[in-house]
Amino acid sequence: MAGEKASVCVTGGGGFVASWLINLHLSKNYFVHATVRRPGDAKYAHLSAFEKASENLRLFKADLLDYDSIRSAVEGCVGVFHVASPVPSSSDTILNPQVEVIEPAVKGTQNVLKASVEAKVQRFVFVSSIAAVIMNPSWPKDQVMDETSWSDTEYCRTTKNWYCLSKTEAECGTLELAKGSKLDVVSICPSLVLGPVLQSTVNTSSLFLMRLLKGLESVENRLLWIVDVRDLAEALILAFEKPEAEGRYICSAHMIKTESLVDMLKSKYPHYNYPKNFTEAQQELRLSSEKLQRLGWSYQPSKDTLFDSVQSYHQAGLLD
Ligand SMILES: NC(=O)c1ccc[n+]([C@@H]2O[C@H](COP(=O)([O-])OP(=O)(O)OC[C@H]3O[C@@H](n4cnc5c(N)ncnc54)[C@H](OP(=O)(O)O)[C@@H]3O)[C@@H](O)[C@H]2O)c1
Repeated sequence: MAGEKASVCVTGGGGFVASWLINLHLSKNYFVHATVRRPGDAKYAHLSAFEKASENLRLFKADLLDYDSIRSAVEGCVGVFHVASPVPSSSDTILNPQVEVIEPAVKGTQNVLKASVEAKVQRFVFVSSIAAVIMNPSWPKDQVMDETSWSDTEYCRTTKNWYCLSKTEAECGTLELAKGSKLDVVSICPSLVLGPVLQSTVNTSSLFLMRLLKGLESVENRLLWIVDVRDLAEALILAFEKPEAEGRYICSAHMIKTESLVDMLKSKYPHYNYPKNFTEAQQELRLSSEKLQRLGWSYQPSKDTLFDSVQSYHQAGLLD
C-alpha cells in the first residue's frame, strides 16, 4: 500500500501511542502530518527531535471537533491513523461525560472519517481499544474473546463506563460508515499499552504502572492484558501496509496478574515502594490476538516491556 515517501496523517501526535507511531513512520521514510492541539507547546518538543523529523514531519494545529482543521491535516495523505481520543484516568473524575469524552471520541472520529473520504484517503486505521470488546456480559464465560465480541453500550452507560462507551460507539460508527464508502477502514483494539515513554507528559496507562512503584497500600490483584507501545506501533503500520487487512483486530500480547507483574518488577528494581497488599478480584476473561498474528504481528517478552517502561520513567524524572 505504501509507495516510497507516501504521506500519512496521525491524529493526536503528541500522545504516548502516536509519538511511537510517528517515530516508526519516520524511520520507514513516510512523510507524516501530525495533528496537535497547541503547536509550540513544550509537550510536543520530543517530536521534532525524532530522526528525519526536520524533513519529513509537519505539525498541523487541529482539534477533533473542528472539521476544517482536520480536513487540512489529511489533505494529500494516502493513509490516516486516527489515534487521538480522550483517555481519562478514572470515570470518577469526569463531570460531563458527553462533553469531556463521548463527543470528542464519537463526533471527532466522524470528522476525521468525513475528511478522509473527502481527501480520497486510501486506508483509515482506527485506534480503538479492548474497551470496545470486553464490556460484554452476554459473552460465554468459558469462551475466549475475539473480534466478534462488542461491548454492550447500554451496559457501559448503566455502569457509567464512559471511556468504554466512547470507544465502542466510535469504533462501531467507523466500521458502519466504511461499509457505505470507498474508504478502506481497519481498526486495532489494543489492551493496556505500556512501554517506554517518548513524550514528557504522563499518559493514563503509564500512570497506572507508575502508581504501582509509588507507594500504594493495597491494590486489586486483577488480571491485566498488556501490549508494548512499540509492538502496537508495528501493528498499526501492518494494518496499513497489508492489503489483506480487514475489519477489527485485538492487539494484546500478555495476560498477567497485578501481583505477578509487581514480582517481575521487584526482581529487577527491588527498591521502589511497591503495594503491600493485594486483594483478589474475580475475572475469568481471556482474549485472543490470533487474527493479528495471522497478519504477521509478533510481540516482545513482557519483561522487556515492563523493564523498559520503568527505565524510561526513571530517565524522564517521572518517579522522583
Ligand atoms: N494507552 C492505552 O493503554 C490504550 C489502550 C487501548 C487503546 N488506547 C487508545 O490509543 C489512543 C492513544 O492513547 P494514548 O495512550 O496515547 O493516550 P494519550 O497519550 O493521552 O493521547 C491521546 C491524544 O488524544 C489527543 N486528544 C484528545 N482529545 C482531543 C481533541 N478533542 N482534539 C484533538 N486531540 C485530542 C490528545 O491531545 P493533546 O496532547 O492535545 O491533549 C493526545 O495527543 C486513544 O485512542 C486510546 O483510546 C490506548
